[in-house]
Amino acid sequence: MTAPTTGTCDKHGPFAIKSIAIGECVIRVTRCPSCSKEDAEREAAERAEKERAERQAKIEARLEQAGIPALFRDRSFLNYEYGDVAQANARARFMSFAQNFELHLKRGTVLVGIGKVGTGKSHLACACANYLMARGHTVYFTSTARLFTKIRGTWSRSSEMTEEQMLRQFEQIDLMILDEIGLQRGTEDEQRTLHELLEARRLACKPTILLTNLDHVELAKYLGERFIDRLKESGVSVVFNWESHRKQSRDVAGLDQESA
Ligand SMILES: Nc1ncnc2c1ncn2[C@@H]1O[C@H](COP(=O)(O)OP(=O)(O)OP(=O)(O)O)[C@@H](O)[C@H]1O
Ligand SMILES: [Mg+2]
Ligand SMILES: [Zn+2]
Repeated sequence: MTAPTTGTCDKHGPFAIKSIAIGECVIRVTRCPSCSKEDAEREAAERAEKERAERQAKIEARLEQAGIPALFRDRSFLNYEYGDVAQANARARFMSFAQNFELHLKRGTVLVGIGKVGTGKSHLACACANYLMARGHTVYFTSTARLFTKIRGTWSRSSEMTEEQMLRQFEQIDLMILDEIGLQRGTEDEQRTLHELLEARRLACKPTILLTNLDHVELAKYLGERFIDRLKESGVSVVFNWESHRKQSRDVAGLDQESA
């Protein structure tokens, strides 16, 4: 009796059974080729999805470690609107900072974003962070209040790190973003720690972005005249003096009428 040369698949109907000769042996492929192809495609898709999920998890772990608030994870230069010249200029300065980062890593540039609430200082700083992390740089974003809390945490006996070790770690991060400087008046100890950190980063040529609602005079007082004087060498300041974007978004959403 000769073996059948066709088979039938419940899903794909009749198919030819192939015989493959390997030396003395003949292997008959009795499985539906369409089913085999579908299986292979499904497995490839599953593998690709698994790899994508792993990559995503890595990015999220990096974002978590980088301290970028969830709200700002998708913030970029592309989704920053720049209707007027000053906004376009601020965006261009932050974008140029990110794009020329290798140069700033030689200079230890300090980029200061100064000005009114809701104008997009944190947005543009996070755009820099996201841009640089995608290019393999280490970034750490923190409000100044959170920084001090973290440092105070090292004073506890159960802390895994000493204050010194934590400061050394902050000193090594490629880009550090200190948000909301001077929102609460820090203690003298806190201010001294901040000066130490900024000075250590400056000497290590690590760029820093400082963001604040203080004006130039108040900021100089907060950071100390000596630091401001050094900024003249390696500092760039961008003033954000237009209306809050938060107010504009509320107007569009009609929230002001609702709450009135
Ligand atoms: N020009 C803009 N285009 C698009 N979104 C913007 C723009 N400016 C601000 N936003 C958005 O408005 C919100 C407020 O902006 P952001 O928090 O960056 O302001 P800020 O200057 O850091 O304010 P604050 O001084 O209160 O911290 C954010 O969600 C931000 O993404
Ligand atoms: Mg902000
Ligand atoms: Zn089949």
